[in-house]
Amino acid sequence: MTVTLTVNGKTQRVDADPETPLLYVLRDHLELNGAKYGCGVGQCGACTVMVDGEAVLSCVTPVLLLEGRRVTTVEGLGTPEKLGPMQQAFIEEQAAQCGYCIPGMMMRAQALLQANPKVDEAAVRAHLEPNLCRCGTHMRIIKAVMRAGEMMQQNSRNGGAS
Ligand code: FES
Ligand code: FES
Repeated sequence: MTVTLTVNGKTQRVDADPETPLLYVLRDHLELNGAKYGCGVGQCGACTVMVDGEAVLSCVTPVLLLEGRRVTTVEGLGTPEKLGPMQQAFIEEQAAQCGYCIPGMMMRAQALLQANPKVDEAAVRAHLEPNLCRCGTHMRIIKAVMRAGEMMQQNSRNGGAS
């Protein structure tokens, strides 16, 4: 089966079994290795990406559901030359230890802040609940997300992108 989807702003035609998880399509077909395989059964959040602005667990999302939809991965949040606010904030707060959970954390947080960058800490904590970090860097991750929200608000006041 051929599925046409948009990944990080680029149209992609993927030839795969319809039940293939989106995570495998991203990593094996499109060489986008930001999203991680953690549990493979929807329980850790390491594979989180955005689909049409919503956080989605790509390990349990069959590619057949992605026809015509817009997928964003951590690679789509910015470039090495021009980091996006979420990427910049995670670096500034040194939020990663081993880093394995971080792309998923960033994408779940991005979905929250894209809808409303003006969030309080309680909302960030609640929203990130499905994503696990085995290194225990939660406090720094939450600080990074709060900082990203401030940067996005600043950018929108300046007429920039989020
Ligand atoms: S790898 Fe998808 S939720 Fe764990
Ligand atoms: S930084 Fe290691 S799992 Fe989160």
